[in-house]
Amino acid sequence: MRFGIRTLDDIDVNGKTVLCRIDINQPVDKEKKTLKSIARIKACVPTLKELSDSGAKLVLMAHQGSDIEYKNFYTTEPHGKVLSELLGKEVQFIADVCGPAAIEKIKALKAGDILLLDNVRFMSEEQTLFELKLCLTHEQQAQTVLVQKLAPLADYYVCDAFAAAHRDQPSLCGFEQILPSAMGRLFEKEYCVLSELMEAPERPCTFVLGGAKIADAFLMMETVLKAGVADHILTGGLVANILLAAKGEEIGKASMDYIYKSNYGEYIEKAKGLYDTYKSHIVLPKDLAYTEDGVRKEALTGSVPAEAGITDIGSSAAEEYQEYIRTSKTVFVNGPMGIFEEAPTELGTKMVWDALGDTQAYTVIGGGDSITATTKYGKTDAISYICTGGGALIRFLTGEELPVVKALRHGSGI
Ligand code: 3PG
Repeated sequence: MRFGIRTLDDIDVNGKTVLCRIDINQPVDKEKKTLKSIARIKACVPTLKELSDSGAKLVLMAHQGSDIEYKNFYTTEPHGKVLSELLGKEVQFIADVCGPAAIEKIKALKAGDILLLDNVRFMSEEQTLFELKLCLTHEQQAQTVLVQKLAPLADYYVCDAFAAAHRDQPSLCGFEQILPSAMGRLFEKEYCVLSELMEAPERPCTFVLGGAKIADAFLMMETVLKAGVADHILTGGLVANILLAAKGEEIGKASMDYIYKSNYGEYIEKAKGLYDTYKSHIVLPKDLAYTEDGVRKEALTGSVPAEAGITDIGSSAAEEYQEYIRTSKTVFVNGPMGIFEEAPTELGTKMVWDALGDTQAYTVIGGGDSITATTKYGKTDAISYICTGGGALIRFLTGEELPVVKALRHGSGI
């Protein structure tokens, strides 16, 4: 047991059916429908190998895509193929989550077999909107269709999905009410490393916040500023746009429309309060980039053309961020500075990641897009710790107990 949670050392899975929740959610190429990164799939291999080698009949549950931010659910079938290659053994796949076809497949498993179920978010009870609107307790989550159908088939529940540990959804928090539970090796590692690190981060401690996961980013910003953990917060992406809009800066019509269309308007007010209170710690980009007919243009913040849409931080801002990163002792990064997937708009993200590669600071990055950027810019070996979680890392840093940690503590007592 560690932190009051069973580890794989505490369960004997030989010949037993183990339901294992993993997080292999990856950015997907919308046109080609392929996975842009396989980093998270790689990260859960040790747990799956250990369980399968120990004779478990292994049933994997995972999600792909989100209903709120990206509205992009995909099947987990391609993930199964990658997993199969990485494990060097067959990973069966069934295009079903907990219906008769899945149940039949689970019952037919033999010791060492691995079966991947389809995207659990094809079930509405696994969707984040459902979570946020209904706020089911863990006991209520144990009554959902998914848990009621699958739990009777299993002997153990193992959660290795640290990247989704901030979610309060049945595949993550419901099974622990019924089944003896444990955390997988990846979950154990992530939780231990981050717990130790947060006890006393070396100063100066800088946070780099970008990307489009606004609710998480603002929650974290507020908490680390209030707690005095962050000496500097460098902002990019939509996070910066919202802060700039709150300050009354011109960010262009397209960016403003995007904020309101995505229902992030309320964050402008929130950002105003945060900025007024903590302006000496929050760094806004001094210049910004936008594209015109596919060509990158830059303008000083405040001089962005009214019709433009911001696609990146500017090169002066990126240089300034590099300096902060090089002179910090601890750097947490969540989210890119702009649309780094496209050449004209990748400069800010690339420069920030170059500095992460050079700095002597202890660097921690988290989140799907940040991991993709790390791979793209060849910095995987240079980053001190790559956390598979984005939202989970953020929620962890707020000091709140993660829902899955709470559930696993409960399931470790069964
Ligand atoms: C993530 O990508 O942060 C995790 O897989 C959780 O995904 P979610 O934010 O869509 O729940």
